[in-house]
Amino acid sequence: MNDIKRLFETRTSVRRYEREPVSEIAMQTIYAAIRNTPTSYNGQQFSVVEVSNQDIKEKLYDITQQKQIKTCNKFLVFCADYHKIQVLAKTKGLDFPPFIDTLDGVMVGVIDASLAMMSASIAAQSCGLGCCCIGYTRTANPSKIAELLMLPKGVFIVCGMAIGVPRETPDLKPKQSQDLLIHKDNYRTDDISKDMNEYDIQIAEYNKTRSGTTSDNDWCSHILDYYKEGLQYKIKDYIVSQGFDLIR
Ligand SMILES: Cc1cc2nc3c(=O)[nH]c(=O)nc-3n(C[C@H](O)[C@H](O)[C@H](O)COP(=O)(O)O)c2cc1C
Repeated sequence: MNDIKRLFETRTSVRRYEREPVSEIAMQTIYAAIRNTPTSYNGQQFSVVEVSNQDIKEKLYDITQQKQIKTCNKFLVFCADYHKIQVLAKTKGLDFPPFIDTLDGVMVGVIDASLAMMSASIAAQSCGLGCCCIGYTRTANPSKIAELLMLPKGVFIVCGMAIGVPRETPDLKPKQSQDLLIHKDNYRTDDISKDMNEYDIQIAEYNKTRSGTTSDNDWCSHILDYYKEGLQYKIKDYIVSQGFDLIR
């Protein structure tokens, strides 16, 4: 229990890796964790593409500019996946309800793939490995990546994750206090601005003093810059092009 507690409390994203390969035993531990992820309806609406081929990793790096993809040993791409059940339903001559054309259908795939990614992250860390989720796998040029990975219709990328033997021990990032995250019985109704402001100041202080590259960023404007960047992404077009009509 103490080990698991420590594992959760000390988890950080790791972005620098040794050249040493990840052992097959560790990968099998990660895959067992992924396989036994809880999924909506037990429908297992997800798949993972393991990329270990360096040429493909370099291509993914060229698209995303995320160095971790080319320096990690294994890059996993977590996808929402309705292709597999569509194949089975067709084989059995069953009508496929257009659930994937609904927002909930998309959310179900995203939730299943995200939980699988979290299972993988904790399993990797328990094997002494380091990992970093790479959202740019979804946002940078998802159609090109879907083509590169030969994703069939009914499958779209949710997020990537780089895994390797860690070459750094990053500082723990301060997170929002329990009072901001865990609401008891109902959502907080008091003014949260003071607590949020304190958190913003705490992160600004951390950014000035952390080991490695320091910055003058506060938390709020830094995150809002990401939201601004996100306005350019054409994720809906991409998801539609993968066979999800998103009509309701
Ligand atoms: C869905 C998701 C996407 C992410 N995408 C990236 C990414 O593209 N590049 C990156 O360097 N880190 C990425 N991260 C890592 C976050 O920056 C990191 O989790 C956050 O800064 C908190 O730091 P910590 O994980 O060390 O606590 C991503 C994390 C998540 C959960």
